[in-house]
Amino acid sequence: MRIRQPIRVVPAQSVQDGAGVQIQRALGTRAIEDLDPFLMLDEFKNDDPDNYSGGFPDHPHRGMETVTYMLAGAMRHADNQGNAGRLRPGDVQWMTAGRGIIHSEMPEQEEGLMWGFQLWVNLAAAKKMMRPRYQEIKADEIHTATPAPGVTVKVIAGSIAGVDGPINGIEVDPTYFDVSLEPGAVFEHALPADHSAFIYAFEGEVTVGGGEGAPRTVARGNLAVLGNGEAVKVTAAGAAGRFLLLAGKPLREPVAKYGPFVMNTREQIIQAVDDFRNGRF
Ligand code: FE2
Repeated sequence: MRIRQPIRVVPAQSVQDGAGVQIQRALGTRAIEDLDPFLMLDEFKNDDPDNYSGGFPDHPHRGMETVTYMLAGAMRHADNQGNAGRLRPGDVQWMTAGRGIIHSEMPEQEEGLMWGFQLWVNLAAAKKMMRPRYQEIKADEIHTATPAPGVTVKVIAGSIAGVDGPINGIEVDPTYFDVSLEPGAVFEHALPADHSAFIYAFEGEVTVGGGEGAPRTVARGNLAVLGNGEAVKVTAAGAAGRFLLLAGKPLREPVAKYGPFVMNTREQIIQAVDDFRNGRF
């Protein structure tokens, strides 16, 4: 199997979003706008409440999905259709906005570390106006695989070493792994050759690629876009490392974006703004 080599390594950028929440944006920046079907990846990691307590008050989404994965702290979400929940460390929410929701995502803590990720995934044209859907997964429903010595994989979506992720029914057939490597460990995983794939290192550093190509070191806070091939190879050369592996089937459709509205045409964006302003979400 050909190993996918890192074709770009891009540092996350510090941005503010919501009501003054400090974020590291790894995907969805000028440096790397998107990676079909993925539109955005944010890491939020703060231990100063001034940098997170404002949260994300009421805001809309249409035509896309948001995936929230918490590592520390707690987040309460509530939408305009009566859905509500509370995310604790290790929990995942895969929210399919479809034709539209208005929701808030607010830290439910006053001090301590708040740490997690939010990924945006595009929806196919035929699914953009579907009824909103939530998959809310508790930490203990996310199982761990140990495919090789020193390799621990929390399987959110996709499969490895006989462990299946709990997320299902998503058009782009996603892989979403949280992978921890002990020093010297080697992670290898086959992915469909037609899927887009990237890794985001968030602890220590890892070495991505190898085989026929030149591996590259990817330090914490950097995203590596993976090129063509059938398998991913990541090693922890010196120290330990931890990263997200994301992969999914590209939609190959036109994208018209305006903030949290992600459609195919400008007319659909104008319609989305009009629907939102006139209370049709
Ligand atoms: Fe949101």
